[in-house]
Amino acid sequence: MQVDLIFNFTQVVYSLVLGILAFQATSRTLQDVSMQERHEQWMARYDIVYKDSQEKEKRFNIFKDNVKYIDDFNNAATKPYKLAVNKFADLTNEEFTASRNRFKGHMCSSITRTPTFKYENVTAAPSSIDWRQKGAVTPIKNQGQCGCCWAFSAVAAMEGITKLSTGNLISLSEQELVDCDTSGVDQGCEGGLMDDAFKFIIQNHGLATETKYPYEGVDGSCNSNGKANHAASIKGYEDVPANSEQALQKAVANQPVSVAIDASGSDFQFYSSGVFTGSCGTELDHGVTAVGYGADGSTAYWLVKNSWGTEWGEEGYIRMQRNVDAKEGLCGIAMQASYPTA
Ligand SMILES: *[C@@H]1O[C@H](CO)[C@@H](O)[C@H](O)[C@H]1NC(C)=O
Repeated sequence: MQVDLIFNFTQVVYSLVLGILAFQATSRTLQDVSMQERHEQWMARYDIVYKDSQEKEKRFNIFKDNVKYIDDFNNAATKPYKLAVNKFADLTNEEFTASRNRFKGHMCSSITRTPTFKYENVTAAPSSIDWRQKGAVTPIKNQGQCGCCWAFSAVAAMEGITKLSTGNLISLSEQELVDCDTSGVDQGCEGGLMDDAFKFIIQNHGLATETKYPYEGVDGSCNSNGKANHAASIKGYEDVPANSEQALQKAVANQPVSVAIDASGSDFQFYSSGVFTGSCGTELDHGVTAVGYGADGSTAYWLVKNSWGTEWGEEGYIRMQRNVDAKEGLCGIAMQASYPTA
């Protein structure tokens, strides 16, 4: 009797274990199958074609890890922003930042900041501003795999001041900077600084339109006809006093401003909507443009124009938390801001 019971008990445990194992195996397979389906759908959506099955397998595994990270993040819902399985979902964070974020922030110690700040005495900064609504921001652009964020950042700020000083919104050429600007540390797709871009534009007496000198997304030789074709010019540039979000607000209240940020985290790679609160560091590696600020409920934010296409973020924009505890601002946004003057 007792033996029987033990036997039965063992049998029950045994079949239970088998059952769980089988269930786990099935659900794992199902998960893999559905993940593979997600990958296929994602590939179709973004027109991704891999060179062979080995590459596909490698990318699938990265995709799987990223999707898991994104799903877990969104399910946890502990932050005021959401992530999405966007077009960067088959890239590791390392690969992603290596190809796109080439703001040469690590060289900042050797950079002399300009002494004057024309907005220092501004007292009446509005509580919110959106330069898009004032027609001073061109549509979102896409730098592709060229690390010339610095050019997009500088051009967006120049497009802004050009609109404000002339009344005309003109899309200007990043490629001209990529090909022709060798001032300071600027090296086309290999990186550069917004301030050096402004220096080049001043020395060159202007910049061509996007149409006259279109974007290629690769380093090229300088087209002298395009370079001589000026659609807009700037007189100078100024740096916003470092590490003061108040100073940055005074500047952005008056024009779109180039800012450098640390955009290296996975949350930045997959940011989709809401007010981004980090985490992120202050190792400046990306150039973008602050085109406004405001508040979402009690959370103040900077409205930031990125150059990763409209598929990323809020139609290509990110709202980044403003007035944080750190003097550098979130992701170092207040560390190296600057703007061209007309
Ligand atoms: C700001 O005000 C101070 C004191 O009046 C003045 O010395 C300074 O030149 C002003 N700055 C600007 C940029 O106008």
